[in-house]
Amino acid sequence: MSRKTLALATACAAAAALSLSACSEGMGGDGETGGILRFSLNQTKEHPSYIALDHFSDRLEDATGGRWSIDIYPNETLGAQAEALQLVSDGIIDMAVVSGAQLGNLNPDFTVYNLPRVFDDVAHQMDVVNDPSQVTQELFTSLEDSQDITVLGGLTQGARSVYTTFGPIERPEDLAGKKMRVQESSLNIAMAEALGASATPMAFGELYTGLQSGVVDAAENNEVSYYTQKHYEVAPYFTYTNHLVGIDYVIINTETLQKMSEQDRAAFRDGWNKTWQEHTQLWEEATQEAIEGAKAGGATFTEIDTTPFDERLEELVDEYIRTDFQQKLLDDARRQATQD
Ligand code: GCU
Repeated sequence: MSRKTLALATACAAAAALSLSACSEGMGGDGETGGILRFSLNQTKEHPSYIALDHFSDRLEDATGGRWSIDIYPNETLGAQAEALQLVSDGIIDMAVVSGAQLGNLNPDFTVYNLPRVFDDVAHQMDVVNDPSQVTQELFTSLEDSQDITVLGGLTQGARSVYTTFGPIERPEDLAGKKMRVQESSLNIAMAEALGASATPMAFGELYTGLQSGVVDAAENNEVSYYTQKHYEVAPYFTYTNHLVGIDYVIINTETLQKMSEQDRAAFRDGWNKTWQEHTQLWEEATQEAIEGAKAGGATFTEIDTTPFDERLEELVDEYIRTDFQQKLLDDARRQATQD
């Protein structure tokens, strides 16, 4: 069985289990006059990404007289992000949200935007990622020839912090001998080590059970995922290490995008622009709701002086900037921060 057939079989098995009809390759419809874009997401329906992307579908339908729409499969129903990335690349599904960590595995240049201290805050990050300079644009099209993947732009993950099953932390020594779940990438492994823990790479959807069963003792994420995934139930100590502002990307199969007429593609791009803006607006409120909800469920949120962590994280930046192009991505991003 070829890799593509195997991937299609896997997606079909997932779809069949849900009585869905996602078993043809690519989108529903002929793909030229319209279609239903199959979209993989690893978040719940309550997450701002689902809400904003669902509205993306409405916008697209309105602007194209119902010819194009997006069908979102939440909760990893079409696979975890690593699988979804492959399915989009193979054209078996059309779109997905994948974390920067996943794209960094395909092209290390993406890793620049995954580093600590690149983005000051969400507003700065959105300026860089969704008002792309030439160099960012080059990054977003860098996977088209090799992987058939186009990056539309980014959705913020907000600031990420550490949470644990055993108590709040204050310094890297508090994580000594503890296992921290990280996203599957070398930077994330190095980051957990810099924070003081030993790293356990794991898919997002496996984390609740991982924390519950003691396979891991800690994880790192934003408050919204901490709450919507119910991780606070099994790891009730959230400490504000604020070690980086994370980024998700919305990706689409390049051939699918090229099949759209010029007019439909313009409607699609326009719909996307409104979508990331809506997502950014929803983010702050969702964060507050998440904090309140998790607290009501017994979680504690602890602010700390992050200096002992910061010093160790800074060293990662030098380690991961290896080429002139990566340096330019970093310099341009930092320049945009100082202009604001
Ligand atoms: C965030 C992010 C996801 C990512 C997850 C993770 O929730 O939005 O895209 O998969 O972190 O830590 O895996």
